[in-house]
Amino acid sequence: MILVVGGAGYVGSHLVRELIEKEEVIVLDNLSTGFKSLVDLRATFVEGNLGDRKVLDKVFTTYPIKAVMHFAANSLVGESVVDPYKYYENNVAATLTLLKAMLDYNVKNFIFSSTAATYGIPHVDLIDETQPNAPINPYGQSKLMVEYILADLADAYGLNYVVLRYFNVAGAHASAEIGESHDPETHLIPIILQHLLGERDKISVFGTDYDTPDGTCIRDYIHATDLANAHILALEALLSESKRTVTYNLGNGNGFSVKEVIDTCEKVTGRKANIEYADRRAGDPAKLVASSEKIQEELGWEPKFKLEEIISSAWKWHSKGK
Ligand code: UFG
Repeated sequence: MILVVGGAGYVGSHLVRELIEKEEVIVLDNLSTGFKSLVDLRATFVEGNLGDRKVLDKVFTTYPIKAVMHFAANSLVGESVVDPYKYYENNVAATLTLLKAMLDYNVKNFIFSSTAATYGIPHVDLIDETQPNAPINPYGQSKLMVEYILADLADAYGLNYVVLRYFNVAGAHASAEIGESHDPETHLIPIILQHLLGERDKISVFGTDYDTPDGTCIRDYIHATDLANAHILALEALLSESKRTVTYNLGNGNGFSVKEVIDTCEKVTGRKANIEYADRRAGDPAKLVASSEKIQEELGWEPKFKLEEIISSAWKWHSKGK
């Protein structure tokens, strides 16, 4: 049985959809940002906090867990600057409680959701895992702190882990039954689509004076289902080897500017956006594009969805209403 912490969230729920075809799944989620309705009905669901040792004791003594996949986190860069304590408490302290319970119950396989925010402001076009870590906000710091903790626990206690650093996750499941839903929404693609559905009167483009061809920020968008499949390959590798401690980037390797993303949304939906050019948003690097060659070579992962398909899957989810 696989314990998926945060399996009611956007990315976690996409993983559960794929994993449930292969393994028994138990989801632990406190529903602070996730939704029970996103959890596949075939999974066992426990509502609770990953930082609550009593809940963890119950889970680890009731179910034969062979690996833990950890998606539960606060993940808004801006909020992390204003309220860093929340990020260190939920993303670091609570994760330590989870890791202690795993070690106590001799569960030694762990997959951790990390982020491109660990790289800070990169100085290369394609970021691979050898680039230095220099986060510029508490969110990125909190994820990197856990990465350092994992390395030490691996050395001392034989923990096996895979760290997956996500670039910009987007898109919805092919069934349109699960997709991205945040409150408040801050991510570019859902904001554009909500606007094109008439739920917002305009889109603000944050910054037009970046050092990029059209002056707007460039990001690497990766479909949630491609991400889910990378987790499954990582899990298979963990379960088939006695020792593995590794970090992989997950992106498509192609960068798109904010303007290009808006153009593609207009093309996919056949609707015209009302755009406002606004000031830069604090903490945004100009360009973040992944090299995911390492996971492609080592695990045979292949992202399948291009930007247009990512947007059209998200459009199906958003336009059906929640
Ligand atoms: N943007 C706009 N207008 C909006 C919303 C976003 O112009 O209304 C721009 C942002 O300034 C940025 C780009 O669109 O340039 C993408 O922004 P998102 O908020 O969608 O995503 P981020 O790149 O900020 O965030 C992602 C992940 C984080 C991760 C971060 C690393 O969601 O978890 O990359 O920088 F930490």
